[in-house]
Amino acid sequence: MNASQIKLVQDSFAKVAPISEQAAVLFYNRLFEVAPSVKAMFPADMTEQRKKLMGTLAIVVNGLSNLGAVLPAASALAKRHVSYGAKPEHYPVVGGALLWTLEKGLGDAWTPEVANAWTAAYGTLSGYMISEAYGDVQAAE
Ligand code: HEM
Repeated sequence: MNASQIKLVQDSFAKVAPISEQAAVLFYNRLFEVAPSVKAMFPADMTEQRKKLMGTLAIVVNGLSNLGAVLPAASALAKRHVSYGAKPEHYPVVGGALLWTLEKGLGDAWTPEVANAWTAAYGTLSGYMISEAYGDVQAAE
């Protein structure tokens, strides 16, 4: 990701911040619609989960310009996700639901450049998380 892409991601995320609760509702509704099987992995009451997701996204988005500072937390998050039942193939599904949510939330501000920047950001983060959580397992098999 280059500096202008990082700025696009940060500026667009700031626009969603005021509606972060609704954005999280949209996100999980979309996720459970496209991947109904993952619904059972989540708690019945999603109130706290929605807050945790948006809080973590905010930390990662703010940390994009200093990625080294957020990678240890991203690694730990990825490893916790193994015990939640997350599989590598879930990551693109979650990414699709996230981008869809941002597109809905941003409306006209969801430009091709913003979409590319988010695709790059999610690709970087999810690629790192997958290799941290499953890299050794795959190598050992
Ligand atoms: C970059 C991608 C992702 C981010 C930023 C993210 C973020 C989070 C956060 C912050 C939590 C709260 C608990 C914690 O901090 O450990 C959480 C929980 C959870 N995540 Fe993710 N997640 C991501 C990808 C995924 C994927 C791919 C799945 C697979 C379906 C998934 C399934 C879950 C489940 C099931 C829980 C709830 C566990 C529980 O409370 O019992 N997440 N996620």
